[in-house]
Amino acid sequence: MSTPANKLIEQTLTYFADHHGDPYASAFQKLYAADPRYEPLFVLDTDEGLRRNMMRTTLEMIATYIDDAYAAENLVIGARLVHLTYEIDDDFDLFFAITRDVIAEGCAEIWSDAHAAAWVTMLTDFEKARL
Ligand code: HEM
Repeated sequence: MSTPANKLIEQTLTYFADHHGDPYASAFQKLYAADPRYEPLFVLDTDEGLRRNMMRTTLEMIATYIDDAYAAENLVIGARLVHLTYEIDDDFDLFFAITRDVIAEGCAEIWSDAHAAAWVTMLTDFEKARL
């Protein structure tokens, strides 16, 4: 069941998609800027297919959370484990924070404290989603 807070998250995703389309380019720019060791990790992803899948999966997890937080937390646990093979451990949650920042910037005209609080609650739940 979607809560009022989750409806605010949904509103920001819809607003962003309507006004800016895909957050992919901005999100990966921020990821590379966050740590110079990140971009070389994708050297074999020559057609950017894996990175586009990473962005899509991140957005799908957020969309799942809006209706079913428990299901989303299990998806996050799975992706978190897979990332251990890329030696991404504590850094994993960074991409959710980056996604929030990109969406927030794109939604500046409608963004409120309530939107910010709803995203913080979700990101905190994702951070706690571990085995
Ligand atoms: C919101 C958190 C994240 C989610 C949901 C996520 C999701 C994914 C998914 C689904 C894939 C697999 C793509 C495929 O096999 O088609 C992937 C691959 C990968 N992710 Fe993430 N990711 C996250 C955070 C991060 C972070 C913070 C990094 C830091 C650099 C990272 C680095 C990688 C790398 C290196 C690969 C493999 C790319 C390759 O083999 O070329 N991920 N990610």
